Amino acid sequence: MMGYVTLSGGLLWAAQLLALLVMTVAGNYCTGKNPVIDPPALVVKFGSPATATCRTEYNADLIGWEATMGGTNKENAQQLVWNVSSITDWSLKGGITCFVSTDEQCTTHLPVTIYKIPENVDLVIHNAGPLVEEHTYWLECEVQSVAPVNNLTVIWFRGDSKLEQSDFTQFNIVGDRDQNVTVRANLSITASREDNRASYSCAAQLDLNTPEPIPNNRSNSILLEVLYEPTIVSPSEDVSLTEGDRLELNCTADANPSPTYEWRRDNKTLENISSSSSTLLIESVEMDSAGVYECIVSNTQGKVSVKMTVAVWRNYLTWIAILVAIAILVLLAVFIGIYCTYHKKNKTGAYILAKFKGGNSQNEQVAHTNGNTA
Ligand SMILES: *[C@@H]1O[C@H](CO)[C@@H](O)[C@H](O)[C@H]1NC(C)=O
Ligand SMILES: *[C@@H]1O[C@H](CO)[C@@H](O)[C@H](O)[C@H]1NC(C)=O
Ligand SMILES: *[C@@H]1O[C@H](CO)[C@@H](O)[C@H](O)[C@H]1NC(C)=O
Ligand SMILES: *[C@@H]1O[C@H](CO)[C@@H](O)[C@H](O)[C@H]1NC(C)=O
Ligand SMILES: *[C@@H]1O[C@H](CO)[C@@H](O)[C@H](O)[C@H]1NC(C)=O
Ligand SMILES: *[C@@H]1O[C@H](CO)[C@@H](O)[C@H](O)[C@H]1NC(C)=O
Ligand SMILES: *[C@@H]1O[C@H](CO)[C@@H](O)[C@H](O)[C@H]1NC(C)=O
Ligand SMILES: *[C@@H]1O[C@H](CO)[C@@H](O)[C@H](O)[C@H]1NC(C)=O
Repeated sequence: MMGYVTLSGGLLWAAQLLALLVMTVAGNYCTGKNPVIDPPALVVKFGSPATATCRTEYNADLIGWEATMGGTNKENAQQLVWNVSSITDWSLKGGITCFVSTDEQCTTHLPVTIYKIPENVDLVIHNAGPLVEEHTYWLECEVQSVAPVNNLTVIWFRGDSKLEQSDFTQFNIVGDRDQNVTVRANLSITASREDNRASYSCAAQLDLNTPEPIPNNRSNSILLEVLYEPTIVSPSEDVSLTEGDRLELNCTADANPSPTYEWRRDNKTLENISSSSSTLLIESVEMDSAGVYECIVSNTQGKVSVKMTVAVWRNYLTWIAILVAIAILVLLAVFIGIYCTYHKKNKTGAYILAKFKGGNSQNEQVAHTNGNTA
């Protein structure tokens, strides 16, 4: 019993050794004798022609190509061309084999990559109508009928700038992975006001180490509309004015949809200002234009307000001018008064003088007489 087991065990061992020896010999036999294929790998577009040449240094009894398309063989030859006018069989993706038979059969494998440019690249957003700021949405890029999916990258664009690359886990693949498939990739975006009127698109890129890179296929663009609450761009500050000055308060706000404006002074709505007016203008302020102005900006998304204090000072310059004018008038009146009075006096004086002059001639005569006497 034991002896038999030992014997059969020994036989088994001997058989295994022999098998190993045969395998090694066979392996050794082909070393350096395997045919050489040019090119060593093929990257072909689906539907395009393909060709490869198999060569051996030895005069082979038989040289051949094992392939699901274009399989062929030839006796007593050193080379054989595999030539297919149009690659239409996806099973070629497994590669093809060239064999050379002399005493033994030696083979070389030619890996084949069949690629297919997508039939269509379509971008959709699963949301009807405008987006709302700070809400999250999905953009879905559908790449139809593309291969090979392992060498496909979906690129996202916002305007013309590339966004983060989506990795394969985000892919949803429909179809036979060994052939062409339809790939859906999602991009999640949190809508921001900067996204309003921004356009998004995606592109399918196949990276196959071809001498010339395969141009990517860009999708349609989606122009986003984002609704957001108002933000006052550059609110006016508190102002201090003098009567008669021009008052301009600016409350222009950035908002979508366009906001309405309400202007209040001391909590009372200024009825005479249109609700579309982002600025308040008073050409010439009066004392009662002063107060706390409030601008309330609102749209469907929200409401903001800003307060501005307007102080109005009396225009003392006018008062001074008036006072000066009055003073001048008064002075003028006084002067005229004085002048008139003086003039009247002067007239009376002349009359007296004339009277006096008459008396004088008498005096002269008197003097003369006096002189003669002297
Ligand atoms: C391969 O086949 C095409 C037509 O199918 C032919 O024009 C071309 O010459 C062939 N090439 C070789 C190397 O045989
Ligand atoms: C994809 O790009 C290639 C090369 O630019 C072009 O020939 C082909 O028409 C494009 N296909 C689609 C669906 O845009
Ligand atoms: C690609 O796949 C679609 C559906 O999976 C199929 O209808 C179409 O014929 C395929 N195209 C090619 C070139 O194999
Ligand atoms: C992409 O988003 C849509 C809509 O939310 C969802 O139905 C789909 O499953 C998502 N696909 C992937 C690959 O996440
Ligand atoms: C396809 O992608 C794989 C993995 O990224 C890479 O190893 C392989 O070289 C690519 N195929 C071609 C033909 O470039
Ligand atoms: C109000 O301010 C905005 C933003 O700073 C500016 O574009 C606009 O011209 C201003 N309006 C007036 C009337 O000054
Ligand atoms: C304006 O009204 C608000 C409440 O609506 C109140 O708190 C505030 O005191 C009022 N201001 C004036 C100046 O009346
Ligand atoms: C609007 O009316 C108020 C009085 O109700 C007045 O003080 C203000 O100057 C007016 N503003 C404009 C821009 O006409």
